[in-house]
Amino acid sequence: MSKILVTGGAGFIGSNFVHLALKDRPDWQITVIDKLGYAGNKASLDDVLDKIEFVKADICDQSAIDELVKNHDHVVHFAAESHNDNSLHSPWPFVESNLIGTFRILDAVRIHGKKLHHISTDEVYGDLELDDPSKFTPETPYNPSSPYSSTKAGSDLLVRAWVRSFGVHATISNCSNNYGPRQHVEKFIPRQITEILEGRRPKLYGTGENVRDWIHVDDHNRAVIDIMEKGKSGETYLIGADGEKNNKDVIEMILENMGQDPSAYDHVNDRPGHDLRYAIDNTKLVAELGWQPVYTDFESGLKATIDWYKANEAWWRPTKEATEAKYKELGR
Ligand code: NAD
Ligand code: TYD
Repeated sequence: MSKILVTGGAGFIGSNFVHLALKDRPDWQITVIDKLGYAGNKASLDDVLDKIEFVKADICDQSAIDELVKNHDHVVHFAAESHNDNSLHSPWPFVESNLIGTFRILDAVRIHGKKLHHISTDEVYGDLELDDPSKFTPETPYNPSSPYSSTKAGSDLLVRAWVRSFGVHATISNCSNNYGPRQHVEKFIPRQITEILEGRRPKLYGTGENVRDWIHVDDHNRAVIDIMEKGKSGETYLIGADGEKNNKDVIEMILENMGQDPSAYDHVNDRPGHDLRYAIDNTKLVAELGWQPVYTDFESGLKATIDWYKANEAWWRPTKEATEAKYKELGR
């Protein structure tokens, strides 16, 4: 019986991880720690609360983290401030959770001799030109653009240093953009789906030529489990499923699948410093760990995601108004 501590387990990817792990790894004993910040939603775990322990605490709280890490075998660290737009007008929570929080976890893992898997993003590598034939690899130099991606890059570097200097057992994964159920309505795909459900038009930043490499959240989390079980300490694995699409095409696809005119969207102010393109080379993950994505058809995964938001209005409704009020201030 492995005792797994999931940080940020009330967020989008962490809560989907908990659901997947309960199904695929029934012998794991799971504890979630989450501070239930604006992006954390305990309702994402309502149906499994009798199968896990839930602790409401901040990962920056040294004594809470120390006690929890001491009592577990493996920490999988999802907790972070995760939205670029927020980081541009309010960077401090990113520095606090992503850097100081990761430091607290690393030190507890070092002191108690436990294992860590650190969840990160492909955004640490900066961006690519639209016509660049190359993709991000584990050798690509770090070149983050925003307060979000720079604090994630810093957290990755802390993990690398704790492996080298203190012999901590840790793995890192950098994944591309996730989609699927239980994603906060501030993010691109859920924002557009819920705007349409509200009878409003989707909002495209700038020209919409920006490319993201979409992966279903369950494919990401299956890779995370593979890395936790088969990954080598000190190694970085890039997770992506060859899902490059530009934002304009995604908005049109959402509109069409929701029975609307595909051109019925608005262009809004662009994001300052907006990364142009992300793309992951997943060769190492596939060759070394045998991982393969299950969701190879983006449109059917997107349709299932639209259906989830239609069926779960009670989940997203409480956060929608405040999210749009924030965007209104930014003119987006
Ligand atoms: P999210 O914002 O939906 O969830 C983050 C969770 O962490 C929330 O429940 C929040 O309450 C919690 N949290 C934040 N700061 C905390 C703190 N100090 N103490 C305790 N809990 C805290 O984010 P997500 O999209 O699920 O992302 C999870 C992780 O995956 C992040 O590390 C992010 O950088 C990474 N990631 C995300 C994507 C993506 O497309 N969403 C892609 C690659 C990597
Ligand atoms: P987002 O979901 O914020 O993820 P990230 O910034 O981590 O890639 O945005 C995905 C893309 O969608 C990004 O290029 C910005 C763009 N975008 C819009 O065009 N409209 C929107 O309303 C939002 C939230 C994002």
